[in-house]
Amino acid sequence: MGSLLNHVNIAFGEAAESIGLSAEYGRAIRAVRPELGDFQCSGILGAARKLNRSAEEMADEMALFLRLKCGNLFENVTVVAPGYINVRVARTTLARFVAETVADPRLGIGVVPRAKFFFIDYGGPNVAKALHVGHLRSAVIGESLRRILGFAGHRVMTDIHVGDWGTPMGMLIDQIRLDFPNWRDLAKSDADCSAHGLTFEVLQRLYPVASAACKIDPTRAESARLTTAALQAGNEDYQILWRRMVSLSLSSALSEFSRLGAHFDLLLGESDSAGEIPDMLSDLVARNIAHYDERALVIPLQSKSDRSKLPPMIVEKADGAALYATTDLATILTRVRDFKPDAILYVVDQRQSLHFRQLFRAAEIAGYVEKTQLLHVAFGTVNGPDNKPFKTRDGSVMRLRDLLDLTEAAALKRLESSGHEEGSRENLEAIAKQVSVAALKFADLSSDRISGYVFDAEQMTSFEGKTGPYIQYAAVRSASVISKVQQNSAQDIIVETPEERSLILACLAFPEALSDATVHFSPDRIASSAFEIAQAFNRFYAACSIRSAPEKIRDSRIVLTTLASKVLCLALWLLGIETPEAM
Ligand code: ARG
Repeated sequence: MGSLLNHVNIAFGEAAESIGLSAEYGRAIRAVRPELGDFQCSGILGAARKLNRSAEEMADEMALFLRLKCGNLFENVTVVAPGYINVRVARTTLARFVAETVADPRLGIGVVPRAKFFFIDYGGPNVAKALHVGHLRSAVIGESLRRILGFAGHRVMTDIHVGDWGTPMGMLIDQIRLDFPNWRDLAKSDADCSAHGLTFEVLQRLYPVASAACKIDPTRAESARLTTAALQAGNEDYQILWRRMVSLSLSSALSEFSRLGAHFDLLLGESDSAGEIPDMLSDLVARNIAHYDERALVIPLQSKSDRSKLPPMIVEKADGAALYATTDLATILTRVRDFKPDAILYVVDQRQSLHFRQLFRAAEIAGYVEKTQLLHVAFGTVNGPDNKPFKTRDGSVMRLRDLLDLTEAAALKRLESSGHEEGSRENLEAIAKQVSVAALKFADLSSDRISGYVFDAEQMTSFEGKTGPYIQYAAVRSASVISKVQQNSAQDIIVETPEERSLILACLAFPEALSDATVHFSPDRIASSAFEIAQAFNRFYAACSIRSAPEKIRDSRIVLTTLASKVLCLALWLLGIETPEAM
C-alpha cells in the first residue's frame, strides 16, 4: 500500500511538476510545528532562489493544486511565509491507513524490492578472555541488524568469528602445561577439564599470567612461539587441549550472549580459515601482491588516489606466524567462496577502523571481493561518568557480565521502590531481568552508533524519559488495555482529538524508520520512532478515555490502541527487546 509519507510525497511531487518544477522540490517531511499541520514542504524556498521568483507565490500556486487535486488526501493546505506549505491529512485517509495497517501482519511495511544477502560478523569473543563492554555493543547492534535486515526482506546469515588463533594459543597451552602437570588428562572433555580444576574462570586467569611471563622472559616467548607453530602444524595433544580451551570459552561466551538474546547461525572462528593461509600467501606472493620486507610478508596498500596514508598490511611475521589480519583475509576468501554474500558487515569497535580499511583494501587488491561489498559497521565506546571508556574501579576493562548484573540490580531496585510488585519474588526478579536487558539495549541502540555513550544504570532503567523500560511499559499497558475489552470487528476510525491524530501519525511513520534503519544500518532510527509512539500513546491514553466514551468512539480508540501496541511490539522486537507480559 505504500506508507503515508509516500502518498504525501507523490502528491507534493505532482504539485511541484504542475508549476514546472521537478518533483524533488516537492519533498515533504513531518511538520516541525504540529499545530500548523501534519507534513510540511520547504523545497520551494530553494527553487525560488534559483529561479529568482517569489517563494510565497510559487507555494500559493502549489497549494492551489493540492487543494483542487488532492482533496481526498488533505483536508487543509496552508502557506506560511516565506514559502512553506503545510498540510493536514484528511481524517478519512488516516482512518483508511489505520484500518489497513492493523489488519496487515507486516503492519504496512513493504518488503525491499531487491533482496540482498547480508553476512554479519558480530560478537567476536576471544579464547580464554571474558567478554567485555566492547563485546556488548557488537552483540546488541549485530543482533538488532540481523532482525532489521531480515524483516526488511533481506537474507541474513550471522557468524560469531571467535578469536581462537595466533600466539595467545601457544602462550596458554604452555601455561596450562606448567600449572597442570596432568594436562593430557584434561583434554578429553569439558567435564574432564572442570573435574581437574580447569574451568573457564581459571582459564581466564591464566591468560594475563602467560602474557606477562612472555613479556619479561624471552625463553617463555620463544616457547610460546614454538608451541603455537606445533599447534598449527597439527600436534595432536595440543590440538585436543586447544579444542577444550575453545569449547570452554565459546560456551561461556554463548551463555552471556544468550542473556542478550543474540543468535548466531555459524559459530566459526579464526581457525576455521587458517587452513587456507599457506596457499593464500603463496598465491599472493606469486601474483606479486605480497612481498617480503625485512623477512615479514606485507601487502602494500597505498594507492595514488588515497588522500590519507594507508600503511601496508603485515600478513606473516618474520617468525612465520599468521596475524589477526591474516585470518581475517583468509576468512573473506572462505566466506565469499562458501556463501557468496552480497555484503559482509563487520560490527566491530571503531578503534579497529584502520585494521578494516587495510583488510578491505587487501581483499580488493587480491581480487577476492568482486561481487561482495565489505563494510565496517563501527561503533563508539561505552563510557564511564568521566566520558572515557568504561573501566572497573581498579582500572581494568569492565566485564560484560558485571555490567549486566549492575543493570539488573538497578532495575530490581527500581521495580521494588516503585511498587511494581506483581506476584511473587521470583516473578519480580524475572521482570527485572527483562527490564534490565531492555534498559541496556535501548540505551545502546538509541544512541548514535558511532559516538559512544555514558553507561548510567540509574538513568537507563528509569521508567521516564527515552529509556527501554518506558517503551516496554507503553507496550505492556497498550496490550493490557486491549486484553480487557471486547473488540468488535470492522469499526470506523474516528479522528477527533489532537492526541488521536498524533498517535496515528507516529505509528504510520514507522515504515520510514525501518527503511532508514535498513539503509544506514542504524537501529537508532527504530529506537527514536518507538519513543515517539510510546510518548504519543501515553498522551492519548491520558487524554482520551476509552471505557466511558460513546460506543463508536470507544471502538475506534480500541483500534488505535491495538495499532500502537502492535507497532511498539514490533519495534521492540527489532531492537532485540522483549515485551514483558506485565510490569
Ligand atoms: N575478536 C575480536 C576482538 O575481540 C573481534 C573480531 C571481529 N571480527 C573480525 N572479523 N575481525 O576484538
